Amino acid sequence: MKIVRDVAAVRAAVAGSGRVGLVPTMGAFHEGHLSLIRAARAACDVVVVWLFVNPTQFNEKSDLAGYPRDEERDAALAAECGADILFAPSVAAVYPAGFATTVTVAGVADVLEGALRPGHFAGVATVVAKMLNMVGPEVAFFGAKDAQQVAVVRRMVADLDIGTRIEVLPIVREADGLAMSSRNVRLDPDERRRATALHRGLTSARAAVTGGERDAAVLARLVQDELADAGIAAEYVAVIDPDSFEPVEIIAGPTLIALAARVGATRLIDNIEVAP
Ligand code: PAF
Repeated sequence: MKIVRDVAAVRAAVAGSGRVGLVPTMGAFHEGHLSLIRAARAACDVVVVWLFVNPTQFNEKSDLAGYPRDEERDAALAAECGADILFAPSVAAVYPAGFATTVTVAGVADVLEGALRPGHFAGVATVVAKMLNMVGPEVAFFGAKDAQQVAVVRRMVADLDIGTRIEVLPIVREADGLAMSSRNVRLDPDERRRATALHRGLTSARAAVTGGERDAAVLARLVQDELADAGIAAEYVAVIDPDSFEPVEIIAGPTLIALAARVGATRLIDNIEVAP
């Protein structure tokens, strides 16, 4: 596996080599990332893994400062999963002096994570637009845990006529249901145990839908109660349309239940799809 640091090097590395798959990441790999790299390996001729802790999408300085980084370990794991190129640019290579353009997506980027983390999705949309332009992949692989990010990226790719297909892979979970996240390492043992309430709440809402419940407010309350029992206050529990992220009141088709919650000092997100 080759490690490259700038746009000229990545373009030279992928030139004329067939179907290019891109896996966008901020590193600190867990099974969720590795599942994306393996899917790219199975579907594409060349697999490029993007590794860049993008400062513009962090709205809390402490979150950026404490974000886990270990390029050597990530490079070894990416190579094991069959990546051909690790594209790990510096901040100066992505945002050179004079950089002045921001991509903002209206609507889907304004609610939930967008409302609570001002500037977050502008940071994501801008860096994703840049990486897609730099690498020119036919397919880019994203994880379903960041469901709103997926909806924002899909909107941007459609609106800007970017020719990359966005492939979304299921959330990878620990044996007890906790969604894998680079932030899980920050949980102490008690927080780690209590954090299982996130998935428990979501699965009990899904079981209620299977049992005939259609009222979004009742479903949200079920999730909130499960979190409250574990001493966790939700930042939001939202029952929404998976594409527009507009609120749904009565479940009548595929619907997403998404949540964000702080467990101790660590902010976690999770979601589940339900359908009548
Ligand atoms: O999901 C992530 O890891 C990041 O938001 C992404 C897509 C790599 C952009 O920095």
